[in-house]
Amino acid sequence: MGSIAAELPTSTKLPSSVSESDADALKYGILEIDLVSKNPMELFKAWYADAHQVPENTYPQAMTLATVRKDGGPSARTVLLRGLDEHGFKMYWDHRSRKTDEIKNDSRGALVFCWTYKDETGTAGGRQVRIEGILEKLTEDDNTDYFNNEPLPAKIRATACHQSRVITDNRDSMLSQIHSLYQKATSGQLELTKPDYWGGFRLVPQMIEFYQGQRDTINDRIRFRKVSETDTPSAADEPGVSVGDDGWVYERLEP
Ligand SMILES: Cc1cc2nc3c(=O)[nH]c(=O)nc-3n(C[C@H](O)[C@H](O)[C@H](O)COP(=O)(O)O)c2cc1C
Repeated sequence: MGSIAAELPTSTKLPSSVSESDADALKYGILEIDLVSKNPMELFKAWYADAHQVPENTYPQAMTLATVRKDGGPSARTVLLRGLDEHGFKMYWDHRSRKTDEIKNDSRGALVFCWTYKDETGTAGGRQVRIEGILEKLTEDDNTDYFNNEPLPAKIRATACHQSRVITDNRDSMLSQIHSLYQKATSGQLELTKPDYWGGFRLVPQMIEFYQGQRDTINDRIRFRKVSETDTPSAADEPGVSVGDDGWVYERLEP
């Protein structure tokens, strides 16, 4: 996570510590000209950096990941954003889990971040980023690098536990396996390496919507959509649609 923060572009002006003058500016909403980038991945990085500056956000990297159940219904849980690159949003877990099972069946997924803050008047505010796209498996090299940098308790959990499996023996066998791994790992008898079933996914975005709450409730919503050059008719010709950078178009939505 630290490496992401180091790469972040300069923050947007809202809302890390909203001064009275910024609060006045809020009344007028976000103008397209204020966006730090017309590429939503860059804009996301700026909002993500802002979220890390706000003390109320104890876990700014927490996001809801929605997948598609095998019966077509929705399924959602919280996971942590563990990396960001030009292709998308990275996260890691046990591939024997329910979510990997669902993704293998249908690779469509969605993420939601919600970051809250208080301005200088004590008024609560919020930002939301909604992302929809396709989940793709990360490479084994990426998985191994990530696993090797995990703290010992996380490595032990990943080795001892089978995520999402039903416990039938009051946790006894799992706890005894955890205890034994701790002893071996801390006495140098065992070096924990990445289990075959452990790894990550990247959500490659096709849609990213930024929502900025406003005190007057006239909240801003700006939606970016990835378009293909071969789309006919071109999305950029639709009413209200502007051309962004790197194959994205964007439009403003009513609150
Ligand atoms: C703040 C928070 C962060 C979490 N981060 C992760 C994570 O990065 N990876 C993970 O596998 N589960 C994470 N979890 C647990 C998941 O919400 C979920 O319980 C688990 O992944 C099993 O989901 P599944 O049965 O749908 O596969 C987190 C939970 C919370 C509350």
